[in-house]
Amino acid sequence: MKQVILEVVKTEQLCENVFKTIFRGDVSGITNPGQFVNVQIGGLYLRRPISVCDLGDNMLTLVYKVVGKGTAILSEAQPGDKFDILTGLGNGYDLTLSGDRPLLIGGGVGVPPLYYLCRKLIEGGKKPFVALGFNRKEEVFFADEFRALGADVAVATVDGSMGEKGFVTDILPDRYSYFYACGPEPMLKAVYKATDCEGELSFEERMGCGFGACMGCSCKTLTGNKRICKDGPVMKKGEILW
Ligand SMILES: Cc1cc2nc3c(=O)[nH]c(=O)nc-3n(C[C@H](O)[C@H](O)[C@H](O)COP(=O)(O)OP(=O)(O)OC[C@H]3O[C@@H](n4cnc5c(N)ncnc54)[C@H](O)[C@@H]3O)c2cc1C
Ligand code: FES
Repeated sequence: MKQVILEVVKTEQLCENVFKTIFRGDVSGITNPGQFVNVQIGGLYLRRPISVCDLGDNMLTLVYKVVGKGTAILSEAQPGDKFDILTGLGNGYDLTLSGDRPLLIGGGVGVPPLYYLCRKLIEGGKKPFVALGFNRKEEVFFADEFRALGADVAVATVDGSMGEKGFVTDILPDRYSYFYACGPEPMLKAVYKATDCEGELSFEERMGCGFGACMGCSCKTLTGNKRICKDGPVMKKGEILW
């Protein structure tokens, strides 16, 4: 974990209530796709955890949905604004297990961390299939960005207004070597049941400290109690106890 001050380069709206903010500064604390950062926002007591969406030379991209005060303030960030951010939190995804045809499954605001993962897998010579699920077309974001990386992409919306009508589990391909998922817990449960091989699921639970000190995010697994923030947020399918 590394505490840094990052400067906003720009903020833009991607779709209804979803924003992207690019920061510049020391991002050397971030080592793995699937990790998250914890952002101090305004005078709010608790930091707000947001997944690493993309990472470059001194650049960090966060993509987030405005759901409350913290994310609303962040969405109004202007170039030059500075934020105190804990970087490199959590374990992240294990890219060594992907096989040649990894499946990436994202639902709603679970989609952002899959972007950096997808880019690293493609840079490593893999051919990912990306399945994205949203409620309706106004909430869809990043499908074209994944295609631009070179991934095969399928989109499902619950109301059928874009892509296939249904859930993300309705558009999974027949063949894949391993899977990586991130999204709300009901989606992760459905993914757990629908997949027939090993994989990893990332839990975006509510958190307190975000770095292992408060036990506020503790959960039971087959290998004992784990803290989502420190031992996760990524869990192997085989260790999850619902
Ligand atoms: C490891 C991790 C990674 C995350 N990555 C992302 C991301 O990449 N993009 C993104 O948009 N969000 C992400 N989240 C969720 C994000 O942290 C919350 O949406 C944010 O903290 C809400 O802050 P707020 O002040 O705007 O809302 P608050 O005022 O704190 O809450 C407003 C409403 O949002 C709900 N809410 C708050 N936190 C969560 C949560 N974790 N899950 C579900 N509902 C919540 C509350 O129940 C409440 O109804 C992540 C969470 C975790 C734990
Ligand atoms: S949020 Fe404090 S231990 Fe996980």
